[in-house]
Amino acid sequence: MSQKNREHWGSKTAFVLAAAGSAVGLGNIWKFPYIAHHNGGGKFVLIYLICIAIVGLPVLVAEMMVGRATQKSPVAAIEELSGKGSPWAFIGYLGVAASFVVLSFYIVVAGWVMHYIVLAATNTFAGMQPEQFGKTFGDLYVSPGLNIFWATLFMAITYLVVKGGIKGGIERTTNLLMPGLFVLLILILVWCVSLPNGAFSEALNYLFTGKDEIEGAAVLEALGHSFFTLSLGMGAMLTYGSYLDNKVDLFKAGMWVAILDTVIALVASIIIMSIMFANTESSFGGGPGLLFVNLPQALVQMPGGYFVTLFFFVLVFFAALTSAISLLEVAVAFLIDKGWDRKLATNVMAFSIWIVGIPSALSASAAWKAVFGEVTMFDIAGKTTFFDKMDYLASNWMLPIGGLAIALYVGFSLSSKLRDEQFHLGMNKKSAWHFKPWELFTRFVAPIVIILIILIEAGAVKKDTVNKFFDQILGQNSTVTQQEAKPAKSEK
Ligand code: PHE
Repeated sequence: MSQKNREHWGSKTAFVLAAAGSAVGLGNIWKFPYIAHHNGGGKFVLIYLICIAIVGLPVLVAEMMVGRATQKSPVAAIEELSGKGSPWAFIGYLGVAASFVVLSFYIVVAGWVMHYIVLAATNTFAGMQPEQFGKTFGDLYVSPGLNIFWATLFMAITYLVVKGGIKGGIERTTNLLMPGLFVLLILILVWCVSLPNGAFSEALNYLFTGKDEIEGAAVLEALGHSFFTLSLGMGAMLTYGSYLDNKVDLFKAGMWVAILDTVIALVASIIIMSIMFANTESSFGGGPGLLFVNLPQALVQMPGGYFVTLFFFVLVFFAALTSAISLLEVAVAFLIDKGWDRKLATNVMAFSIWIVGIPSALSASAAWKAVFGEVTMFDIAGKTTFFDKMDYLASNWMLPIGGLAIALYVGFSLSSKLRDEQFHLGMNKKSAWHFKPWELFTRFVAPIVIILIILIEAGAVKKDTVNKFFDQILGQNSTVTQQEAKPAKSEK
């Protein structure tokens, strides 16, 4: 467990910024605002915050702990702690596989963001009729050339950063982009306060009070998302933790990462909702359309809209890049710990992931559909394209299973002594009050909750039963149907 030969973060702040950079991504700025709105804000947001605290944070600390204790990436780390051939090492392999799956669709969406930076910078939106916004995105969505071009460029940038190593590449980039992201976010937030129609306070109201009743299934969505948004379950935080030295208080660092991630998701939602509420004409669509259609369409009519649109897409690009870096680093670190040189490992992994990303980039195009049809292989309702399937596979299966395994591994396979020692390193105290609660949450609360989501996802437990169960817990006396659960605001 020597710390000598391994490259390390330059400071605690550098680590927190890099880990927060991994956590804050498309999940925060594109997905969270949409699901928060779709589920009616209020109670949903509260449940999401609870999930982050009772499942996300304990697993986050557990992952960083294994990395720091071994100074190795997932597979090598587990082999060091539990011996070669340990079945737990599957966590590491699953993580490398997940990095392929997540990155392959991440580079496609990040590519769209880059395309939109160009559209915003060249003021293309200014001359558009309302119906052209949908068409612009639709054309991009199905274009094989544009999708490949942008996804390739984004992958190339990610590759260059990771090739530069921990200090020279990753740390340098995240130390620059994360403060940039904070500044842009604050500027836009301040601008939102001045929006007409009381839009800003309406957004706050919606997000924090919202409506009283939510569907039980929304609880599952909140839980699933807390994994994706904190980059858990695939060894990204474990790998970043392996570049930490003993001077860092893991729990404190984890708290910072979780707080930054949550605050940014909330601020992004307030911004997007304010803009949508200020614009009384546009409808509040969801999914990819929210960011790429509704938002530019609403902003184009507002004073200062040019800059806000441009800043917003630049901000999303920063967020996506710092997350993509951590995804590639998981795969690269796996080869480095097998004795490869960083340059070669990065070349091989970036190229392989790029290849795997090609079907995601092409899957909405007419040519792809003509050849392969709608892939019916593992058919899931509403997930028709290859791209959708990759997203579903990772978010709903790979990350929760990986997260469950890590919690059980740290909670039951590792010794209590190792947990105790790692938890208290970097603190001045010998026994911190929050050690026992953290252990309890890692060993029992998080695994039970995750097993429940997996069972429901697998269809072993009926959604109706879940709805009834949560109705009781939440003090609701009737189960709201999917239709009623959709907020009236969307018809605005
Ligand atoms: N946390 C990132 C987001 O919110 C996605 C991600 C998942 C990054 C897993 C790394 C590992 O967009």
